[in-house]
Amino acid sequence: EIYFNHTLYNTTPIASTNYFKLEASAKKLLAPEAYDYAAGGAGLEKTVAANRAAFDKWHILPRVMRPVQPKRDLSTTLFNRTIPAPIIMAPVGVQTLFHPTGERSTAAVFGQEGLPYTQSTASSTGFANVAAANGAGNPRWYQLYWPSDDDLLRSYLTTAKKSGFEVLVVTVDTWDLGWRTRDLDRGFFPFINGVGVQIGLEDPVAHEKLGFDPLAKNATEEQKQMAALYHTIVTSRGVSPVWENVGKLREIWGDAPILLKGVQSAEDAKLAMKYGLDGVIVSNHGGRQIDGAVGSLDALPAIVEAVKRNLTIGFDGGIRSGADIFKALALGADFVQVGRPVLWGLAHQGEKGVRHVLKSLLADLEITVGLAGCASLKDMDRSLLVEKRG
Ligand code: FNR
Repeated sequence: EIYFNHTLYNTTPIASTNYFKLEASAKKLLAPEAYDYAAGGAGLEKTVAANRAAFDKWHILPRVMRPVQPKRDLSTTLFNRTIPAPIIMAPVGVQTLFHPTGERSTAAVFGQEGLPYTQSTASSTGFANVAAANGAGNPRWYQLYWPSDDDLLRSYLTTAKKSGFEVLVVTVDTWDLGWRTRDLDRGFFPFINGVGVQIGLEDPVAHEKLGFDPLAKNATEEQKQMAALYHTIVTSRGVSPVWENVGKLREIWGDAPILLKGVQSAEDAKLAMKYGLDGVIVSNHGGRQIDGAVGSLDALPAIVEAVKRNLTIGFDGGIRSGADIFKALALGADFVQVGRPVLWGLAHQGEKGVRHVLKSLLADLEITVGLAGCASLKDMDRSLLVEKRG
């Protein structure tokens, strides 16, 4: 039994507070193809490893004897909303692979904590059900896989807006799927092998284009397969988004914030600024797209230097502990996203497991911030880190 007492960890422990032990325990609970789908990456998984190795290149240099009592303030303001901590749910598709409650559980827990929840276009739960689980008035973001069909683009964004999604996150690194060897070896592709991409299946414009409603009672198996393929093809197969089309997003989404997710080059971050985007998320999709791509944290400092004053900067890839979050924030990220840790929690009893993971990260971060001599996130900067040499 795990026992500890921390005001930010007021919930029931699950399996372990150590990420790696939690992952091992989740592996035992999951179908092998589900575990591999989440744990794996592209190619030889060098970038999955690089994401972790990048954190080891930095050490925290704590300051002491500072007035950090009684409580550390982790709150921050993103796009005019104050949130209790800079931790956001990364967009992750097909979550019912990991627990039957899927997105309902993750959306519920992030909502309860008042932390932004990002719904993926590849979600196995539709907009309305995610919004309901997340709770009225909570910060909700929508992650777009940019459809090649403009009518579908308009329909997705309009439904997202209506369902209370406030920030648009456009993932630009996955217009084709990376060479994911674990899934290839199994012939496993969740959208085709039974987990529906619900946003596409529910979309009225998609129904018009298909000429049928794949969710109707009388839909045939063949129609369901066709609909799954249609959705996959128009959203993430072979059509690369281009800068010149950013205007289309702005026209539909209006003045509300738009971020690009999957930016690794400072030059692209500058282009995002030039094209009027509100922010970038430094990410390599958890090492799932380009094997051999730079570790995500390694890409962060140059982007901070290039656009920090003008754009909001998010970060993801390899965050496993409070210290990891500390390092990303001290290097200049405005917020971090977590992916796999939440999934391993989800695999353990749905909502209860997700709550355990999120509360653990919050408590761990709060302790680390305080012990490093910071009373709030404003006190955190690069002077609290040393770069490992050699
Ligand atoms: C993802 N990720 C992802 N990203 C995205 O923009 N849309 C999506 O649908 C998905 N789906 C998805 C499924 C699974 C199983 C994983 C593990 C990841 C990438 C995700 O948003 C994020 O970039 C990484 O997961 C961050 O790395 P960590 O925290 O998992 O190491």
